[in-house]
Amino acid sequence: MNTIKNVLVIGGSGFIGEAVCNQLAKAGLKITVPTRRYDSAKHVLTNPTCQIVQADIHDRAALNRLVDGQDAVVNLLGVLHSSGGKPYGKRFKLNHVEFPKALCAAMARQHVKRIVHISALGIGVENPAPSMYLRSKTDGEAAVKDSAAHWTILRPSVVFGRNDSFLNMFAKLSKLAPVMPLAGAYAKFQPVFVGDVAKAVLACLTDKNRDTIHSTFDLVGPEVFTLAELVKLSAHAAGKNPLIIPVPNFVGKCQAFMMELAPGEPLMSRDNVDSMKIDNVRTAGKLFPLEHYEPLSVLAPEYIRARYNSSWLDEFRKSAHRRG
Ligand SMILES: NC(=O)c1ccc[n+]([C@@H]2O[C@H](COP(=O)([O-])OP(=O)(O)OC[C@H]3O[C@@H](n4cnc5c(N)ncnc54)[C@H](OP(=O)(O)O)[C@@H]3O)[C@@H](O)[C@H]2O)c1
Repeated sequence: MNTIKNVLVIGGSGFIGEAVCNQLAKAGLKITVPTRRYDSAKHVLTNPTCQIVQADIHDRAALNRLVDGQDAVVNLLGVLHSSGGKPYGKRFKLNHVEFPKALCAAMARQHVKRIVHISALGIGVENPAPSMYLRSKTDGEAAVKDSAAHWTILRPSVVFGRNDSFLNMFAKLSKLAPVMPLAGAYAKFQPVFVGDVAKAVLACLTDKNRDTIHSTFDLVGPEVFTLAELVKLSAHAAGKNPLIIPVPNFVGKCQAFMMELAPGEPLMSRDNVDSMKIDNVRTAGKLFPLEHYEPLSVLAPEYIRARYNSSWLDEFRKSAHRRG
């Protein structure tokens, strides 16, 4: 296999994408990040080997141009919400199923072989999967596996890091609500650090022995938490101690329905509640062989405290005889 130098990172402007771009840039790889809006991707330009291209990745000709000349592709395109549908809504179908298919076809046309495709933990646990998100991710994986590409599929559990939406959302909510009714309170998660996901992507692209080709790996951290424990941890780090009341799934679905009616992306959808019907922990899958996985209990309280809890700064200011 030729050494990989040029990489197209689809979804490179997102939460995981930014960490992936940083990791690949550090290793000296040249990165192209397509985006719908140039301004929303500018932060990745802090990497000198990174360029942004404003493009519609769902357009066949635009996708051909993006893939042309690359040595590898990382596919991080993913959405959390969609309208309803069987087996999944239109937005899930377009981004999770049709896009990987179109991407692999474009790669075949442009003679680009290598792809690292980011899927999600929980696939194959129940068939059919309990949510549209997981069902569409399942079919997306199948499209990649059916292609002629040299693929690796990575399945992360929920991903944490300074800019995550999961723990930060609970920290923010705990600032607003002293009582938190919580569906899926006992659902289990095995969160993985965003930097570790990025390391795994780089390891795939620099894998000289080709051991990662045609393999599927789980990406999970060293600790398992229930959702209620994660909410408590986020709230405590934000300096709050809300009363968490576990509620049955149908109540959670009513809450989510109300959130879906609000304008913009909902904090939680009914489909997200369905995803939590199965635990998000590693079972029979192969763990990606990283030397070390970072624990959430050490890293997350630090970045949540820094963003949401200024009381420790107040203490510091007091001891330094300074006012807020
Ligand atoms: N975060 C997690 O906890 C987690 C866990 C398991 C699996 N995953 C998977 O990992 C991947 C990356 O997740 P992430 O959390 O980094 O996502 P994210 O922050 O939402 O980023 C997704 C990126 O996709 C790009 N995108 C392009 N076309 C899009 C479209 N039509 N609709 C929405 N986005 C579009 C966006 O770029 P522009 O806005 O610049 O166009 C955005 O930067 C996804 O496949 C996700 O399913 C994530």
